[in-house]
Amino acid sequence: MSLAVRFDDIRKDFGPVRVLHGVSFDIAPGRIYGLLGENGAGKSTLMKILAGYEMATEGTVLVDGHARRFAGSRDAEAAGIVLIHQEFNLAEHLTIAQNMYLGHEKRKGLFVDNTAMRNEAKRYLEQVGLHKHPDTKVRDLIVAEKQMVEIAKALSRRARLLIMDEPTATLTPSETERLFALMTKLKADGVTIVYISHKLDEVEHITDEVIVMRDGRFVARSETALLGRQQMANLMVGRELSDMFPAKKPPPDDAPIALKVEKLSVPDWVDDLSFAVRAGEVFGFAGLVGAGRTEAFEAIIGLRRRTAGTIEIAGRKADLHSPRDAMRRGLTYLSEDRKGKGLHVNLSLQDNVTLMTLEHFAHPLLDLKAGRDALTQAVREFGIRTGNLSSRARMLSGGNQQKLALAKFLQPNPDVIVLDEPTRGVDIGAKRDIYFLIHRLAAEGRAVIVISSELIELIGLCHRVAVMRAGRLQATLGLDHLTEEELIAHATGTH
Ligand SMILES: Nc1ncnc2c1ncn2[C@@H]1O[C@H](COP(=O)(O)OP(=O)(O)OP(=O)(O)O)[C@@H](O)[C@H]1O
Ligand SMILES: [Mg+2]
Repeated sequence: MSLAVRFDDIRKDFGPVRVLHGVSFDIAPGRIYGLLGENGAGKSTLMKILAGYEMATEGTVLVDGHARRFAGSRDAEAAGIVLIHQEFNLAEHLTIAQNMYLGHEKRKGLFVDNTAMRNEAKRYLEQVGLHKHPDTKVRDLIVAEKQMVEIAKALSRRARLLIMDEPTATLTPSETERLFALMTKLKADGVTIVYISHKLDEVEHITDEVIVMRDGRFVARSETALLGRQQMANLMVGRELSDMFPAKKPPPDDAPIALKVEKLSVPDWVDDLSFAVRAGEVFGFAGLVGAGRTEAFEAIIGLRRRTAGTIEIAGRKADLHSPRDAMRRGLTYLSEDRKGKGLHVNLSLQDNVTLMTLEHFAHPLLDLKAGRDALTQAVREFGIRTGNLSSRARMLSGGNQQKLALAKFLQPNPDVIVLDEPTRGVDIGAKRDIYFLIHRLAAEGRAVIVISSELIELIGLCHRVAVMRAGRLQATLGLDHLTEEELIAHATGTH
């Protein structure tokens, strides 16, 4: 049942760029490993090699002592190795069951046995705690549910080694708890698990051992119990990380109101929401998933129908009908669903950065140069790690895609910036960079609104935090009241 792996001097080149420089380490059976490293360190690439999605340029992977060279993911799956991707791999237009059995269809004679697949899918969905009918189309699921489908799919492949690439990035605390319970059970059944995450508290909690990579190399391994979070972070970035958050400088009380929302109602989601954010302010939105934060902002920028409410930007009434409309009025919203709505993964980095501001780059000749300058600046300012400026967005590591999305959304130079989960999937060093960037934007007189499920992030970053529960504003906490206890109490209604 158990399965051990040895990486022996693995190298990987993408064209002229080497991203893995001779990685060697062992994975013992039946343990949970945390694989840590900065964005672009090579974690996903190494695991894709193990799971048959990529070929090593040089080096050997040994599975239970035998050198294996998988020709594809099906090959690896047959050997019991299953990878759950960081960026989802589901076909949006197919149903849950169809996705789970894509390429592995159950057959009865010559025919695809839909009933058998549906029934089995149901069982796995129950196991992961997703209460959806197997015939539900994947496009109708929220991000967290798609994640659960990925896990159910992996279970259906009877993994003996399960690789989870940032599985909790989009999960709520209770969904994460459920996933951890599932992982513990799988481990007891003898499944080896590699868990990639930038959430160091979770790594500390669930893993037996951590392995750290940096710049395409193995740098350290240790029993988890022997390492603190700070040490993990330092090993990842290769230096001591100083304060994560910049000093807070709230705007003066007479700073102009940049965004004012009054009595906003969104059917099924938001009820009578009013708030105002000043220029220079970092304003947070806390709440459980489903509290209506994302939906409120989708309605503000015209992506969702609102039945009541007025919006003012810089003191002038704004009736926004589309994200483009919002952008023209100086407001941009960076969606939490980067792959779906944020980035065009098949376009180049440059096209992504300039797409937002086509008006600005309209002249065909100015176009190219201005676009290139914008990209160079974005890469520098956001520390986007890429071997090649002309590559497509999909070739960036997960965290670097995130940074690219941020760069893209700040291109039009907005006065009001709404960031929905801005540091999801971002490494701890880059997180710190983003926090300092947010404060720099505020210091320039912009209003920055941060929707986040990480309380520590809201507390460290924001001047004020609004807490929503079930579509209603529960409280707005100022600097004196910004504690985890207060936020949780208002978010859960136990105040
Ligand atoms: N298909 C590809 N073509 C070119 N370069 C690639 C490709 N896939 C990955 N890379 C590059 O390889 C490097 C390692 O990327 P990888 O995705 O393995 O990082 P990671 O450690 O998983 O980072 P993250 O924490 O951001 O997910 C990055 O510089 C990335 O841009
Ligand atoms: Mg990755």
